[in-house]
Amino acid sequence: MEHVTEKQDHQTRVKQATEAGKAKQNPDAAFRLGYHLMAPSGWINDPNGLVFYKEQYHVFYQHHPYDETWGPMHWGHAVSDDLVHWRHLPVALAPGDAFDQSGCFSGSAVDDDGVLTLIYTGHNVVNQETDELYQNQNIARSVDGVTFEKSEANPVIPAQPVGMQRDFRDPKVWKEDGSWKMVVGSTEAGKGQVLLYQSSDLENWEYQGILAKHNGGNEGYMWECPDFFKLDGKHVLLLSPQGIEPEGNRFHNLYQTGSLIGEMRDGEFVRGAFTELDYGHDFYAVQTFLDGKGRRIAIGWMDMWESPMPSQQEGWSGALTLPRELNLSPAGKLRMKPVEELQLLRVTEEQLKQNEISGTFLIDGQSNQLELEFDIDLTISAANIFGVNVCCSSDGSERSTIQINRSKGTITLDRSYSGIGVSGARTAPIEIGESLHVRLFIDRSSIEIFINEGETVMTSRIYPKESSTGIEFFTEEGTMKLRSAHLYQL
Ligand code: FRU
Repeated sequence: MEHVTEKQDHQTRVKQATEAGKAKQNPDAAFRLGYHLMAPSGWINDPNGLVFYKEQYHVFYQHHPYDETWGPMHWGHAVSDDLVHWRHLPVALAPGDAFDQSGCFSGSAVDDDGVLTLIYTGHNVVNQETDELYQNQNIARSVDGVTFEKSEANPVIPAQPVGMQRDFRDPKVWKEDGSWKMVVGSTEAGKGQVLLYQSSDLENWEYQGILAKHNGGNEGYMWECPDFFKLDGKHVLLLSPQGIEPEGNRFHNLYQTGSLIGEMRDGEFVRGAFTELDYGHDFYAVQTFLDGKGRRIAIGWMDMWESPMPSQQEGWSGALTLPRELNLSPAGKLRMKPVEELQLLRVTEEQLKQNEISGTFLIDGQSNQLELEFDIDLTISAANIFGVNVCCSSDGSERSTIQINRSKGTITLDRSYSGIGVSGARTAPIEIGESLHVRLFIDRSSIEIFINEGETVMTSRIYPKESSTGIEFFTEEGTMKLRSAHLYQL
């Protein structure tokens, strides 16, 4: 009887959370994104449970529907036929059961023979004053893809021994050779690691050992949000380590998201060095899934812990990145390029006539929801430093600068004049070949930059005025030759 009451409680909590989120919607919010996935209102962080289920794309996310700041974590839920147009569904998971008292933390989803099954971390604060807490793994199922029932078997993996129980989270599950596998983020003696489990039924899990661990260098104290898959002949472990220290141009965000690429040898994952996946200010907790076309698609949280979030004044905070298809370059580099469906967003197309720029060349982008794509001919381009300012105000006070330095082989995104709340530059390596392909997506308070089919990617939040729609190409001493340039209103 007691359990029945708990189940009803969960559905009641889900309903209340969904209604609270709807009630809090703010139609006047100026920083709301136009074509990115966000919650109807309130706070969001990590993407969760990305899955292609019954011919539709489902995305869940860490969500606090009652407030624009982080709090007891729920799972928000949206669905799409094309990865571009999203429809909100009711909140899928609300915390408050015996095994997830303080939050339904991040996790993944699988299609278990027609049953949409979520695997997530139960976050349980035992004593707020002493900060005693434990984390365990749980499942919830749905047959209609909308309403989820938590399993009576929860927790399916109980909390770990003291010492590891605080940081034992973010299960990513997939099927391989007929059995379910799970990677979970963890730590030991202040060093990040990823644990591996196996199951035949998603309820009974067997510990298989440590899949990967800290190499003793600068790899962080806790590895959040692991994801493990095969890609183009290699094995890739994505992870979001906390505690990596800045080194030169690298690792300047509070936490990082990146990859360890390697191969399985005699059951061991032998891997290379940790490499950032996205070099912008705001990219974290990426998760991937395989879709019906066999593509490996990645979506990240388009913010960073403890960074300024001016949209909180509008009653909301956080968004997910555009979906990106992953592949390995011939040199073994992990690339992320926007999924081809994003072309569906293009409303108008304008081809820029100017093909040689010397000094500055300004156009009106006409809006803050656009895509700019251009190809620079490097065989004859003479300038060493060139680039483009976007979201420029007419009085010169606002701009977001994307600058390429040819001799250094770098791209810099400078947010010093990107509107309210944000600042600072990030610099990433780029390959200098015969040409440089740049694709930029601007969506009011976000910018995503894809260089050379996703070899280098930068994602950042910016908060310019709505009227700051100028686009200014520039060179420092010399010319830049454009092979082509297109502006699309989205
Ligand atoms: C990553 C993370 C996860 C955790 C979730 C809590 O951003 O800290 O490790 O499950 O967010 O919201």
